[in-house]
Amino acid sequence: MQAVQIIDLSGPDTALALDELPEPGSPPEHPLTPGAGVLVEVHAAGVSFPEVLQTRGEYQLKPPLPFVPGSEIAGVVREAPDGAEVAPGDRVAAFCGLGGFAELAVAPDFLTYPLAAQLDFGQGAGLILNYHTAYFALVLRGRLTAGETVLVHGAAGGVGTAALQVAKGLGARTIAVVSSDAKQRVAEQAGADAVLRADGPWKDEAREISDGGVHLVLDPVGGDRFTDSLRSLREDGRVVVVGFTGGSIPEVKVNRLLLGNTEVIGAGWGAYAMARPQLCRDIDLALRPLIEGGFVQPIVGARFPLDRAGEALREIDERRATGKVVLDVRLG
Ligand SMILES: NC(=O)c1ccc[n+]([C@@H]2O[C@H](COP(=O)([O-])OP(=O)(O)OC[C@H]3O[C@@H](n4cnc5c(N)ncnc54)[C@H](OP(=O)(O)O)[C@@H]3O)[C@@H](O)[C@H]2O)c1
Repeated sequence: MQAVQIIDLSGPDTALALDELPEPGSPPEHPLTPGAGVLVEVHAAGVSFPEVLQTRGEYQLKPPLPFVPGSEIAGVVREAPDGAEVAPGDRVAAFCGLGGFAELAVAPDFLTYPLAAQLDFGQGAGLILNYHTAYFALVLRGRLTAGETVLVHGAAGGVGTAALQVAKGLGARTIAVVSSDAKQRVAEQAGADAVLRADGPWKDEAREISDGGVHLVLDPVGGDRFTDSLRSLREDGRVVVVGFTGGSIPEVKVNRLLLGNTEVIGAGWGAYAMARPQLCRDIDLALRPLIEGGFVQPIVGARFPLDRAGEALREIDERRATGKVVLDVRLG
């Protein structure tokens, strides 16, 4: 099978190589489910920040070189273990962790879900990492309820667009913060009720349009805007920390939390969810009505063929990406 490997740690321009590799054995096996796994013919693979970091050896997961990156995929099941919810021939979205930039990949059954008919493979490849993270961060960690107002940083990005759609589907009001006109349009497409600019007085604007402060801030960006995120909250408000694309990890003066009766909450979906198969299934079930209701529709901002994976990674690395960046692994 054709697959893209990370062969060294020299960055997105030079670390990737397209190779011919042996197909996974039968029965397929995933490290999270020893002795079992779902073998998927990959049609599309999602590209995300971790793959960029992996080309530089900067991600916490550091497999020995060479390895096939790619955490999530959409495609058609070729082989599934007894008792799995999916069967050969089913269209699925799956989270494989590694190995997705290839014509065949293996995922655990608890992270392989039927792909709704209204979503294409490109959208399916953008479904699990961003939308499970968004639901986990907003609802399970941030305790978002209908009628609340949520402010989303990096709102045109993968996690950002997912958070806007999930929040909207749950009956929340959404405020997006973005850095450009093009990203403003993407945030609007994702259903933002209001869009503010990261280089403008977004904190004051957010307080004004939310009648004195937002209930929740979802922050995949971090950096120097963090204190203003706290200031944009109303009493009982929460900031949910999801990532640090801005480059620096903010520090909190905790007296601010006391004064405002506010909270800072961490949301780390990956390792936490991998250790809890039932949680993963529950999030999938919670997202299904949002897909059927038309709220969850992953926005694919750029698509590249497998042999141009480096360009896909640069899209993210150079802050151009909107929505999900996807590799088309096989057509049809
Ligand atoms: N906690 C978890 O469980 C979890 C799960 C998934 C992902 N994540 C993390 O969440 C973060 C966002 O992921 P994503 O897939 O949404 O990324 P993305 O699609 O690239 O979007 C990130 C956004 O961050 C903003 N940003 C601000 N400063 C930036 C900079 N210097 N370089 C790049 N972007 C910058 C950009 O928005 P503007 O240009 O509009 O400011 C960009 O749209 C990543 O750090 C990722 O690792 C965490």
